Amino acid sequence: MLMARESRVSIKTTEEQALMRQAGRLTADVLDMIGPHVQPGITTGELDRICHEYIVGHQNAIPAPLDYKGFPKSICTSINHVVCHGIPGDKRLKAGDIVNVDVTVIKDGFHGDSSRMFLVGKVSVQAERLCRVAFESMWEGIRIVRPGTRLGDIGHAIQRYAEGHGYSIVREFCGHGIGRGFHEDPQVLHYGEPGTGMVLEAGMTFTIEPMVNAGRRHVKVLPDGWTVVTKDHSPSAQWEHTVLVTADGVEVLTLGAADRGDAAAAP
Ligand code: MF3
Ligand code: CO
Ligand code: CO
Repeated sequence: MLMARESRVSIKTTEEQALMRQAGRLTADVLDMIGPHVQPGITTGELDRICHEYIVGHQNAIPAPLDYKGFPKSICTSINHVVCHGIPGDKRLKAGDIVNVDVTVIKDGFHGDSSRMFLVGKVSVQAERLCRVAFESMWEGIRIVRPGTRLGDIGHAIQRYAEGHGYSIVREFCGHGIGRGFHEDPQVLHYGEPGTGMVLEAGMTFTIEPMVNAGRRHVKVLPDGWTVVTKDHSPSAQWEHTVLVTADGVEVLTLGAADRGDAAAAP
């Protein structure tokens, strides 16, 4: 029942918000750190190892994906037509690839979750546009987050923007509440109808992480049980931030160093 679901959405206390801010910062630091390593010739397994060592050895934190429901690695790496949950391995990046790196860090019991697209060498104009529109779609959702906004407003804003640019939105995966749990209530769909769904309140923390396909929206899971790909093999792009609903707007907890101090004005 809807009311029961809504009642499970936690409101973070001031102290919990500070811990979410800390986890979000560490998550952004990992992405800032790994960016320069994302180059033609490196394997996704090497990117995983570098992130793992940074999180465990340098941050004294925990990579949440490792052993999460049996996931074997510390980050997700999703190349080209891989939509999400790609497993790092022996595959080498090559010029022209687009790759999503998804990082989730646990520090002092709280999670931060963020992902970015990286362009490997010179990529096609089409691939670059897909990554840009996916980024802008995420921000279309983030920019309207404030008390009183409804989840359907967020989904609609994201869907309208992506579809308005000729792309499709994946339906099978969504954003999520986050805190002591990796995936908490509510589910944050990246499509929907304005004026529907749960009403946001100050102190809620959740992710917004639209997956945008260049072709049709349909996806399938590979036999490894994790890797999600587009059925039509069209390329897919995703960006993710963890956000906090504040008294009068939104605080993005996973901004990278280049964007910090600039949350309200971010694109
Ligand atoms: N980080 C992903 C998310 O944004 C979840 C990855 S689950 C894993 O929700 F097991 F694949 F790591
Ligand atoms: Co997430
Ligand atoms: Co993530």
